[in-house]
Amino acid sequence: MCSLPNREKETILVTGGAGYIGSHTCVELLNAGYNVVVIDNFCNSSPASIYRVNSITGKEAVLYSGDVRDERLVEYVITSHKVSAVIHFAGLKAVGESCANPLLYYNNNVYGMLALLNVMRRCGCCKIIFSSSATVYGNPKTLPVNEDAPVGNVANPYGATKFFQESILSDLQRASGEWTVILLRYFNPIGAHPSGLIGEDPRGIPNNLLPYVAKVAIGELKEVQVYGDDYDTPDGTGVRDYIHVVDLARGHLAALDRIKTPGRFVYNLGTGKGYSVLQVIESFERACGRKIPYRIVGRRPGDIDATYADPSKAERELGWRATLTLDDMCNSLWKWQQENPNGYNNRY
Ligand code: NAD
Ligand code: UFG
Repeated sequence: MCSLPNREKETILVTGGAGYIGSHTCVELLNAGYNVVVIDNFCNSSPASIYRVNSITGKEAVLYSGDVRDERLVEYVITSHKVSAVIHFAGLKAVGESCANPLLYYNNNVYGMLALLNVMRRCGCCKIIFSSSATVYGNPKTLPVNEDAPVGNVANPYGATKFFQESILSDLQRASGEWTVILLRYFNPIGAHPSGLIGEDPRGIPNNLLPYVAKVAIGELKEVQVYGDDYDTPDGTGVRDYIHVVDLARGHLAALDRIKTPGRFVYNLGTGKGYSVLQVIESFERACGRKIPYRIVGRRPGDIDATYADPSKAERELGWRATLTLDDMCNSLWKWQQENPNGYNNRY
């Protein structure tokens, strides 16, 4: 039988907790009174983020350096810490890399999920919150997108791994009714913690819009390439639902706190508002007080015109909604960028 949550005593395993979204979620969990244990192999992060999580909260997340595919390690952590629920962030997320090296993505993301679930089942720990993505909706036919929209028509191997991981979790829950499976479909997380201590630390040249814009603002990159201005959107540039990473992190807390019964639960985590690439650049210009040079170039293969969430189910059932604005997102990212021009760079 699975034990149900009791915040004060409960210990949550956060896989990939040293990463961008994981570290912000660790802050919210610790502040809310949960015990936190992290497993991360640092393939896209640094242990410095967890030291900074500890200094923000004045509490301690216990950190294990290792891989979620290492069943012995995961079993040791779940049993010795009496973990009652897992938030599973560990995964690879670069769309281009997933096209170039799909086996790496299937192995890390899909096999990683199978290994984790095997151990959780053995240990009788059967509550999992999974980092899914709006990418599972492909190119949505109607906007805003709600959770009943069709999924699976994905554009790349990364998206396929998210869809397969959701399918594995859904099949498991259908077969074994004691499981609590919560699929959180993130829209576009951006921004950083208001302390300026933790944020997104992409390796090399960023693929995503906001980290790229921030590096142009600080003078590290010359100009933003805007991928197309002939989309079916008000100004012709792509429209997305950007969500502050702190709001997103709080969505995990709401799911953990509110869902006390077994079942399969799916929620969009977004703001419900769409902003174009040019609107994002304008907001960032307000944040940094300077012009951001940009150039319109051709479309990026696989990009869609527009997507934004219907987040009303999360508000209804979890009592959660995003409260921070696009300007809050850009201001916090600019603070992080200025105070950490080289990311963590192993600075604790
Ligand atoms: P991130 O790369 O910053 O964090 C992922 C963390 O997992 C990193 O610390 C990495 O070192 C770790 N990791 C990867 N594979 C591992 C493994 N096999 N074992 C142990 N640790 C491993 O990425 P993020 O932006 O924080 O994303 C977290 C999750 O949310 C990912 O699953 C991602 O696919 C999903 N997601 C992200 C976005 C986004 O735009 N950032 C959008 C939708 C969904
Ligand atoms: N864009 C540019 N120039 C850039 C980068 C992006 O114009 O240098 C545009 C894109 O064309 C798109 C918008 O900015 O219109 C946002 O692009 P991102 O790469 O930041 O984000 P995506 O919406 O393409 O995808 C992101 C993640 C996916 C995830 C998806 C939904 O990269 O992994 O959000 O969560 F699935």
